[in-house]
Amino acid sequence: MTDGNKTKKFNISKSRASQEKAAAAKIPPQKKQETFDRLRGMKDVLFDDWKYFSLVKKKAGELAKAYSFRRLETPILENAKLYERSSGNGSDLVTKEMYSFLDKGGDKIALRPEGTPSIVRAYIEHGMFTLPQPIKTFWYGSLFRYEKPQSGRYREHHQINFDVFGEAKPMADAQLILLAYNFFKELQIDIQVQINSIGCPLCRPNYLKQLVEYYQTRGKRSKLCVDCKKRLIKNPLRLLDCKEETCIELAVDAPQLVDCLCEDCKNHFVRVLEYLDLLAVPYNLNSHLVRGLDYYNRTVFEFTPTGEEERRQLSLGGGGRYDYLVEFMGGRATPAIGFGIGVERVVSRVRNMAIPMECEEKYDVFVAQLGEASRQKAMTLFEELRRANIKVKEAFTKENLKSQLEDADRAKVRYALILGQKELMDGTILIRDMESGIQEVVDFKKILHEIDKRLNNQ
Ligand code: HAM
Repeated sequence: MTDGNKTKKFNISKSRASQEKAAAAKIPPQKKQETFDRLRGMKDVLFDDWKYFSLVKKKAGELAKAYSFRRLETPILENAKLYERSSGNGSDLVTKEMYSFLDKGGDKIALRPEGTPSIVRAYIEHGMFTLPQPIKTFWYGSLFRYEKPQSGRYREHHQINFDVFGEAKPMADAQLILLAYNFFKELQIDIQVQINSIGCPLCRPNYLKQLVEYYQTRGKRSKLCVDCKKRLIKNPLRLLDCKEETCIELAVDAPQLVDCLCEDCKNHFVRVLEYLDLLAVPYNLNSHLVRGLDYYNRTVFEFTPTGEEERRQLSLGGGGRYDYLVEFMGGRATPAIGFGIGVERVVSRVRNMAIPMECEEKYDVFVAQLGEASRQKAMTLFEELRRANIKVKEAFTKENLKSQLEDADRAKVRYALILGQKELMDGTILIRDMESGIQEVVDFKKILHEIDKRLNNQ
């Protein structure tokens, strides 16, 4: 044997670990790797959170079915002009919060800051006005707003939207508010419905004139916050829902919109309230509720948590009529109404209330194995059980039976199926009742039948 041969033989017999160690020693020392954190205002939805998100989505889906709303999805990216025109060129949402950029083709694109414009675009683009009306849509998705992050206010959040197209009657307003009310009630979240009417293009200008006059008399203007001074010129209605203390005080004596409504808007609002009374939905007439988006008219509403302090801060959802938006965006004149619910804010309530969760994964059976040959057979068995719709769990990467049975215990399964060398040779399998610890040997070929019998005899 030559020296060369000896070296070769030595290398082959060296353990893999020592080979890896030797290889690593040849790599020059590296700088500490850069790590990444998520962007400010963005959230990861981790395992435990996910069950709350599922519960909230499930409840919305159930109500969508019950009230005949149909699911619709729209893209996350849209032409930025869509929002500039619909949400409002002067709105905070577009001027301060919208994420927009030029794509590789030079087009100005936006990450959707709200759902309504895309839903309206889809309604027009797919000619939904040719279908029997009303069209009732149910939408779920993520939205992006460059806001100052704080508890309950994120740069990416999710919304559930319910919208109705092609129905102008006050009954539609009341029914939609009832749906939202039921959503919160069935999730055991106490809310208050805030409601107002902001009139229509016929009666609102007269009110705005009175409002501007009010703020311009007796030195009120100088007490307004910087933003409200600008709003007085661009969008005076928003003076009413400013959260700054001095602006709140000034708004108390401001003229009320309901006093200036035209006959049609007044009748519409009264009918909505009558229906809500009939449906036993409690509400709070809130003359300062105006909503922050340009497209609303007549009924506007928000769902706020109960409690004075919380109510001022964060609404759990909101919406209103937007009877002019479809036409304004190039479609046929179509009345519409809808609302959006903030999923993260609802999830945080549900989590704090510790509602017993039904959507946690439950397993009935655990497949345990000992040794490579048993593992292979156990893997096939797992697939068979899964196909037979049995809720089955495994830990095939584990070698040790004790630790597999600990997993089975944690998963609270009723039965563990154990395949060892002996069972493999005999063509059997052990069924262990996890509660009593009693084990039975059964014919491997009959295992599906045996498990089914036990699970269904419970
Ligand atoms: P919005 O009032 O802007 O309305 O948003 C609806 C809900 O989304 C809010 O009440 C809040 O719960 C949640 N939300 C908004 N911004 C954030 C944020 N930064 N972080 C966490 N949650 C947030 C709209 O977007 C309208 N498009 C709703 C609508 C649908 N109107 C008619 N149809």
